[in-house]
Amino acid sequence: MVESLSEGADWQSATCYLNDEWTPLIDAKVSVLDRGFIFGDGVYEVISVDTVGGIRAPFRAQAHFARLQRSLDAIRIDNPLRLEQWLQLTAEVIERHPWPRQLVYVQITRGVAKRDHPFPAGIAPTVFVTTSPWPPIPAEQVERGIAAVTHADERWLHCDIKSTSLLGNVLMKQYAIDQSASETVMLRDGFLTEGSSTNVSVIKNGVIAMPPKTAQLLPGITVDGVAQIAQQHGVSVDVRPIAASELKAADEILLSSSGRELLAIVSLDGAAVGSGAFSGKPGPMYRQMHQWFQQAKLEDARSWVAQRDAHRGARRPTERIA
Ligand code: PDD
Repeated sequence: MVESLSEGADWQSATCYLNDEWTPLIDAKVSVLDRGFIFGDGVYEVISVDTVGGIRAPFRAQAHFARLQRSLDAIRIDNPLRLEQWLQLTAEVIERHPWPRQLVYVQITRGVAKRDHPFPAGIAPTVFVTTSPWPPIPAEQVERGIAAVTHADERWLHCDIKSTSLLGNVLMKQYAIDQSASETVMLRDGFLTEGSSTNVSVIKNGVIAMPPKTAQLLPGITVDGVAQIAQQHGVSVDVRPIAASELKAADEILLSSSGRELLAIVSLDGAAVGSGAFSGKPGPMYRQMHQWFQQAKLEDARSWVAQRDAHRGARRPTERIA
């Protein structure tokens, strides 16, 4: 049953790819000297996998690996695998698990060395890939929306790097939980950055506004999808700084991420979002975008199958590049 597979301790039965080897997840070990453990010196990706139209496929896998490359470049780690190898590894980790919905996790750290701040010479990065069951997004959240709170963005100034150093994000997520909310929307100098693990967009008079891709926020794959889908359907997308006052005055607020897809923020700091019939409820743009997003997933799944078949002959991920 999908439901029971998605719950409980089932993730413990997962396998993982760690430095060229497949190992049961619970047995996988890295050194305590791994710089990911010591310094948070690493980057990661989370890729959602869903079964749509009978096809089990990751959503926009290529875009995730393009962003991974960007993160690796930013922290000066050589990419240990080529794109085709990453895609093949992704296909393999999905196939090794029965779950129709999965969250694939990819992490690369600088590797293992004596603790010292400078980059050590001549070490190999630690490469870790696994997956876990992705429970259905609660129908209640899709139908009724979620509550969010705001907080000053106190993180560093390289939030565009998908770094494993997530303490600032973890504290902000807990801040939301402590206030019985589901997400914290962060503001820097009075302008929207993003959620603790999501991107945030604002809708006013039928236009979707989202903050520009600066170092202050993660360039999200899901929000990119939202922008693209909206434009394909003739909805205007305005990429510009968004003032805190615009959040308060918004008709609708959208949250997006690989794990949560699209959700409507219907309450912000305890005040209902929107006005009239949709005050405190998911609005018409959310519903429309949510529907278009599901269609886009199907199209993406079909192109995944096409590119996977085209790359059938590619080298196995375990073959290292000379
Ligand atoms: N988080 N902003 C932050 C800070 C994030 O951590 C995430 C994703 C996003 C949305 O990005 P995308 O649409 O590419 O998933 C925005 C992932 C899911 C995580 O850390 O678990």
